[in-house]
Amino acid sequence: METTKTGGVPRHVAVIMDGNGRWAQKRLLPRSAGHRAGMNNMIALSEKLFESGVEYCTFYTLSAENLSRPQEELEGLYSLFRSYFRKNVRRLQEKGIELRVIGDLDLLPEEIAQLIRTGAAQTVGGTNGVLALAVGYGGRQEIVRAVNKAVRAGKELSESDFSALLDTAGMPDPDLLIRTGRELRLSNFLLWQCAYTEFYFTDTLFPDFSEQELEEALHAYRSRTRRFGRV
Ligand code: FPP
Repeated sequence: METTKTGGVPRHVAVIMDGNGRWAQKRLLPRSAGHRAGMNNMIALSEKLFESGVEYCTFYTLSAENLSRPQEELEGLYSLFRSYFRKNVRRLQEKGIELRVIGDLDLLPEEIAQLIRTGAAQTVGGTNGVLALAVGYGGRQEIVRAVNKAVRAGKELSESDFSALLDTAGMPDPDLLIRTGRELRLSNFLLWQCAYTEFYFTDTLFPDFSEQELEEALHAYRSRTRRFGRV
């Protein structure tokens, strides 16, 4: 574990993109319009983060629990995944960004899961950053999957052995977690990985979370003193 550290550019930023539905509702638009605006903002913010020197960005695009939403909303989200993977994989390849997926793709319709797997495979080897999309993701489910792998292997583990069994294997823990949309909770996101993560919560609805506010979040992070339990 790292020692006391102040400021600097976070190596890994994770984002809970909350408030798309309310953003749409305020404009008398369907919720799907809010998710589309959110997806476009996710693309813009991830580019900004990589430009700022962040190496890993993780976005919570769909939780395991979100899969219980009405079928109409899920169809809207799946059609966004289709459009995202059709239009963005080449751009990520050109920029040398590796796309990773965390979560259980088996929870999704096979066609969408296949699209995501194929898209991610095309970006393997990108060396300029990692964009991780959490899809069908739940932190507790991820931990249980890892525990079951350990049980099957039949041996005791250290913390780092355990981390290597998680979907985020090989990624550093998030330094900064941003949650938009006024809620003050983790919602089953990166439970193990956020042990010492700095949090930035904002009332701003995700589609309105601008590059300028992202800069404020990065500034807030720079001013934190991280002690990792030490004095
Ligand atoms: C939470 O807001 C957001 C989601 C459940 C989905 C977020 C997904 C995206 C922004 C786009 C997905 C990206 C790709 C690559 C397809 P909410 O709907 O709970 O908002 P509310 O709290 O205002 O109702």
